[in-house]
Amino acid sequence: KSMTNHTTMTEFVLLGFRDHPELQCLLFVVFLLIYVTTVLGNLGMILLIKTDSRFHTPMYFFLSNLSLVDFCYSSVIAPNMLVNFWVENPVISFNGCATQFFFFGSFAAIEGFLLAVMAYDRYVAIFKPLLYTVTMSPNLNILLVLFTYLAGFINASIHTGFTFQLSFCGSNAINHFFCDILPLLKLSCSDTHINEVVIFAFASFNELSCLLTILISYLYILAAILRIQSAEGIHKAFSTCASHLVAVTIFFGTILFMYLHPSSSYSMDQDKLVSVFYTLIIPMLNPLIYSLRNKEVKSSLGKVFKTNAF
Ligand SMILES: *[C@@H]1O[C@H](CO)[C@@H](O)[C@H](O)[C@H]1NC(C)=O
Repeated sequence: KSMTNHTTMTEFVLLGFRDHPELQCLLFVVFLLIYVTTVLGNLGMILLIKTDSRFHTPMYFFLSNLSLVDFCYSSVIAPNMLVNFWVENPVISFNGCATQFFFFGSFAAIEGFLLAVMAYDRYVAIFKPLLYTVTMSPNLNILLVLFTYLAGFINASIHTGFTFQLSFCGSNAINHFFCDILPLLKLSCSDTHINEVVIFAFASFNELSCLLTILISYLYILAAILRIQSAEGIHKAFSTCASHLVAVTIFFGTILFMYLHPSSSYSMDQDKLVSVFYTLIIPMLNPLIYSLRNKEVKSSLGKVFKTNAF
């Protein structure tokens, strides 16, 4: 049975937003603007951090990695999706689909783990300010970033392995704008029970370990802030972790929303909307959050524009 099925299913069709023909143009323009902002914002952030020596600190090292991951993360999805608005038959090969799935799963997980590492960095900065540069040594920072990439690739390998060994027969039309896990499971004609268990167990473990790291770091940060006597000190401590707190809240807020959403009331349209949020909007927001809330980034940006304008 599976022999013939495997040989026939060589490509999928990504339906994207075709069930709303009247919105095609509007959606294309909106997503194009979002993607251009994402690319400019994240690559700009990486350049700014590289060129201004004030940013050669652990926190900005992690931030430039977050920008790189955000850039890659949306680039796995957005260009293909934008092109698909204009092609008659938006096909993606079986291997193309698996590749997109693999990299999406990697970068999604790396992003979560990086946010956890950045929480730990904020904890050291506030709890042990005098030991900060010693504790967060360049070697440790590189090791932590390598660890997030490793964990991301492990996540993606496991999910890709489990998903693409399923047999797909019948329709090959994915009602989504990229090769995501749930639409693929829906198309499969194998028993997906094991897949659902693996997804649930693995996602819970990943999310819980990230969230716990972040929560514990912030509990320590809160304890440290409560011990600071001066109002100025409290303000300074808060301002160094405010951007990170906003980024974490948006990222894990979206994930929690997806989990707490009862699956019975889940329509494909809502699923696409949530996906747009975490695949396209979040990678665009991170550089904005960090540059708008941060005096140093703002003043450095001002300098760049001044020297280029005159
Ligand atoms: C792991 O990969 C899957 C499959 O692509 C993805 O849906 C999921 O979000 C990833 N896990 C984490 C913790 O990001």
